[in-house]
Amino acid sequence: MSRESRIDTLGPRGSREARIDTLGPRGSRGARIDTIDSLREHLQWAIELEHATLPPYLCALYSLDARRNPEAAEIVGSVFAEEMLHLALAANLLNAVGGRPVLDTPRMLPPHPRRLPHGDRSLELSLVPFGAEALEMFLRLERPAPPGAAPEGDDYETIGQFYAAIEEGLRYLCERLGERAVFAGDPARQVHAGHFLHTGGRLVAVHDLKTALAALEEIVEQGEGNSHGEVWDGDKDVFHPERDEVAHYYRFQELKLGRRYRRGDTPRSGPTGEPVSVDPDGVRPMPRNPRPAEPGSAARRAQEEFNHTYCAVLHLLERAFNGSPRLVAVATGMMYALKAQALALVGEAGPTFEYVTPEERRWSTGDERRVVVLRDGPYIVYGRVPLRRKRKIVSAGNDALTWKTGAPLETEDTYALCRCGHSGSKPFCDGTHAVIGFDGTEAPPMRPYEELQHVHDGVGISARRVGELCVHAAFCIGRTRPIAAMLADTADSDVRAAVMGRIDHCPSGSYSYALERGGEPIEPDLPQAVSVLEEEDGLAGALWVTGGVPVIRSDGRPLEIRNRVTLCRCGHSGNKPLCDGTHRAIGFREEPAPPPSTDKEPTS
Ligand code: FES
Repeated sequence: MSRESRIDTLGPRGSREARIDTLGPRGSRGARIDTIDSLREHLQWAIELEHATLPPYLCALYSLDARRNPEAAEIVGSVFAEEMLHLALAANLLNAVGGRPVLDTPRMLPPHPRRLPHGDRSLELSLVPFGAEALEMFLRLERPAPPGAAPEGDDYETIGQFYAAIEEGLRYLCERLGERAVFAGDPARQVHAGHFLHTGGRLVAVHDLKTALAALEEIVEQGEGNSHGEVWDGDKDVFHPERDEVAHYYRFQELKLGRRYRRGDTPRSGPTGEPVSVDPDGVRPMPRNPRPAEPGSAARRAQEEFNHTYCAVLHLLERAFNGSPRLVAVATGMMYALKAQALALVGEAGPTFEYVTPEERRWSTGDERRVVVLRDGPYIVYGRVPLRRKRKIVSAGNDALTWKTGAPLETEDTYALCRCGHSGSKPFCDGTHAVIGFDGTEAPPMRPYEELQHVHDGVGISARRVGELCVHAAFCIGRTRPIAAMLADTADSDVRAAVMGRIDHCPSGSYSYALERGGEPIEPDLPQAVSVLEEEDGLAGALWVTGGVPVIRSDGRPLEIRNRVTLCRCGHSGNKPLCDGTHRAIGFREEPAPPPSTDKEPTS
């Protein structure tokens, strides 16, 4: 039976009125979805349902030694990636009908064993290593709905029946209220394929009934199979694009029965293709439903580290689904990076998947303006901080003269800027840091400027310098002599003004000045902004954070708040997260190479 005809069985295809009537009480579990609020509530449950599958799949995946069990690791890994896709599809559906997806909540992480949110009470989810118990749980989870099974909006027996109830509600509401009234959400909140790396399947942007049904179809078919009579899900295998992909339920059957499905196989025939082997010695042991280890122990610290990172993923996903869709790439990248933390736990205490409250987090989750450094990842910029480009204006001899502000860059409310230097969409992060295993180790916290400064007095000016902050932008060098030499001549107000101007252009604030030693520093009036710097000859420079926007290290400790801070974006600074000018030594560029600068003064 085709998907379309299955949908049609929700009611006879008579007149419009007749169709609406038949979508009424069904005698099945859960009240019919007949209001927008109820639809939104059910779509939030769908998000919770899709998320609930992730910790069990992750535990099975972490327990597998991929060298000894490559096929099992591929299968579980591909299902996990598609569950992430389903989560995004559910969020797209909820956003399309004007809802607000919630993920950063303790509701997402109750202790295991747990039931599927609003699902059949007989299905229990546990955190166990890969093996017979895990396979039985996954098969139960992904079990196809029996032919003719009624939609079930609550206490659903199969996931397919739950989504059928949502589909039924969508059709009913569109008939009753009209599509425009139902799909009244902001289209800018939709996550699309360009935001989402590392997965197979279609990430459908939802804006009407047709696209909503396509999204539901993708979720159900990837789980239980194409058209309710086939083992295929209609997509290509994410690891082997030459192959058609088998639905989740049948992928787990392949592992259980030790054979691949091949063309011509059916649910009734079972798999008759190549053998699939599982090496039980290639499965790392892990406690069943791990419990918190001894407080203060190394195992407990590792569990806490993992929980912090996992909750950061939930936080980023929530932001992504609430107006900052580019953050999906950061969240999924972090999900992959979790693996190293989990491997330290498998065989020991095991990952506990406990919720860490925003108050306990290393970085707060409010909307105030700030830049947060993610461990081995990008900078997350909160609070709609304006982003723009600035190009250094130089003389014909490449002497630094001033900065020219370019056009603002369009951003989402919260956005991620590349720190590793390898994003394909600089200055934004596209998740590449996770793929390349970026090491963003940060240097020890800087002592305050006041402690590090060296003071050089002139006439009517006291210049201060912290060499550790220098990014070699060269405004202090000049054509003939550096600031240090010019200070001797500052009785001449022309010279003094030139020194003040040069210091004002120093992007890192390595140089600053007061009118007299110990006096109040005089700082340029810079707006709260992040500027993406370009230096001479297309050299890509630092991220210039101005106006006292706080910068928070990945361990939660703030850097000293200053009017000017320059952050590394080439990934090679020895003083991360601060820029130390290494981009100059490595000739860092944004790709594609920018056109030659036209901001040199003409030679005469
Ligand atoms: S930090 Fe994410 S791509 Fe560079």
